[in-house]
Amino acid sequence: MSIVTSKEMFEKAYKGGYAIGAFNVNNMEIIQGITEAAKECNAPVILQVSSGARKYANRTYLVKLVEAAIIETGLPICLHLDHGDSFELCKSCIDGGFTSVMIDMSSKPFEDNIALTKQVVEYAHANGVVVEAELGTLAGIEDEVVVESGKESYTRPEEVEEFVDKTGCDSLAIAIGTSHGAYKFTAEQCTRNAEGILVPPPLRFDVLEEIIKRLPGFPIVLHGSSSVPQEFVKMVNQYGGNMPDAVGIPEEQLRQAAKLAVCKINIDSDIRLAMTGNIRKYFAEHPDHFDPRQYLKPARQAVKDMVAHKIVNVLGSDGKA
Ligand code: G3H
Ligand code: 13P
Ligand code: ZN
Repeated sequence: MSIVTSKEMFEKAYKGGYAIGAFNVNNMEIIQGITEAAKECNAPVILQVSSGARKYANRTYLVKLVEAAIIETGLPICLHLDHGDSFELCKSCIDGGFTSVMIDMSSKPFEDNIALTKQVVEYAHANGVVVEAELGTLAGIEDEVVVESGKESYTRPEEVEEFVDKTGCDSLAIAIGTSHGAYKFTAEQCTRNAEGILVPPPLRFDVLEEIIKRLPGFPIVLHGSSSVPQEFVKMVNQYGGNMPDAVGIPEEQLRQAAKLAVCKINIDSDIRLAMTGNIRKYFAEHPDHFDPRQYLKPARQAVKDMVAHKIVNVLGSDGKA
């Protein structure tokens, strides 16, 4: 099996009422944790690389590690560029073995977003690669672009048909209230539950439903979909960290979206939290240890357990490889 595109994955996911997990990867342990979980659950998976990840790991290492994961697992795996910000970056990934790219011009005016997305689609399709585009802006941080909470804007359903028609994109990321990072909402946007944990405002399913009506059968993508599990936040805080009011998207709402047209759900922050919580715990309990394998092993296992939980309980993609 070689790296596959997400085309067939999305067709099956749309019909089957589940979503494919798109997990951000930055190093070997993250790739191993995700793909070992996917193998155990027999789930198709998307591994995505941001431009920051590519700068961190260099342009070749992550591609080769993903190829290694395919050899080890035999799973259908798609290698995707997350938040591509230029034609040149998308082209470089297409030329370098990626099977899917995102061109994110969502912060630009509508017509400019269309023009650049179309340019990327033409090059990608000529090379057998699929393209994700975005309409609407999420709060949070996407590489160097920071959108303050309250300055985000939901996708306008009346724009989606024209956008998809004119660009020819293969999937569309939309803004319905998810947000990047571990601090997705301000305290003012939330209520608090009995334990004092922030409860975020619900996702805008009305906007999603309207988009589905206008784009029947078309795969929708949700970014900023970490749930920020409180067990990891507590672990970080218990072992010397300081992450007050970190809060994510409730899992039931993501499950609901996955049953609708949402075929790809992006998760990065939960991987970071799982690793960091467990590494902090390990150091606190073994202050004399200094071999990276000792603390990366429980971190990798935590990624694996967390991803397996998502596949079964949130995405519904278990058994679908
Ligand atoms: O949406 C952004 C992803 O979480 C990637 O984050 O740019 O820090 O690698 P990064
Ligand atoms: P989270 O920060 O919620 O994990 O979102 C990741 C993401 O959308 C990557 O593109
Ligand atoms: Zn994103």
